[in-house]
Amino acid sequence: MTELSLAFALQTPADLPAIQKLEERAFGPGRFAKTAYRLREGVAPELSLSTIARIGGMLVGACTLTRIAIGGAPALLLGPLTVEEPFRARGVGEALAQRSLDAAKAAGHGLTLLVGDPPFYERLGFVRAGFGQFVFPGPVDPGRILFFELQPGARELRGLVTSG
Ligand SMILES: CC(C)(COP(=O)(O)OP(=O)(O)OC[C@H]1O[C@@H](n2cnc3c(N)ncnc32)[C@H](O)[C@@H]1OP(=O)(O)O)[C@@H](O)C(=O)NCCC(=O)NCCS
Repeated sequence: MTELSLAFALQTPADLPAIQKLEERAFGPGRFAKTAYRLREGVAPELSLSTIARIGGMLVGACTLTRIAIGGAPALLLGPLTVEEPFRARGVGEALAQRSLDAAKAAGHGLTLLVGDPPFYERLGFVRAGFGQFVFPGPVDPGRILFFELQPGARELRGLVTSG
């Protein structure tokens, strides 16, 4: 039997229905109420920076980056990052996020923000935001606000986070 290998690629519009189903399985309907989701609502994902993983043609993971603004300056929001349950704990999630960050850095973006679990994202180099640094347009656990500086100096960004 042929061994099925893991392949990474950038997202295309054709992948979006399968990505939405993956997110529905992972997060359920509660995802729509999250502040981070509301920032992404009505904004197309930045496909040139958003990644997917496939095994034998089947989508098993996705990492989406979306344009936002912080205090009026352009930035990126990372999320959702999702890996299909049976394929977790094999490095897929970390590889997806790393590839998206590499693409964002190469494209000249300054900073990637997210709301997520610090123990997972700190391994990738994300750091916790300063108190009051980023003001979200809805409720967010301040201890879960993390950022990744893609260009030197971008960590100085602060202010209201809005859709890009
Ligand atoms: C979070 C997620 C994307 C990680 O994907 P993955 O492919 O399993 O991640 P990796 O294999 O690259 O990394 C696994 C490591 O991260 C750790 N990890 C996974 N999820 C974690 C979390 N939420 N918090 C802390 N650590 C986490 C694992 O324990 C594992 O650690 P180890 O290498 O020391 O054993 C995946 O678990 C997932 O889709 N979860 C549901 C959706 C979700 O919660 N996404 C957002 C996370 S804030």
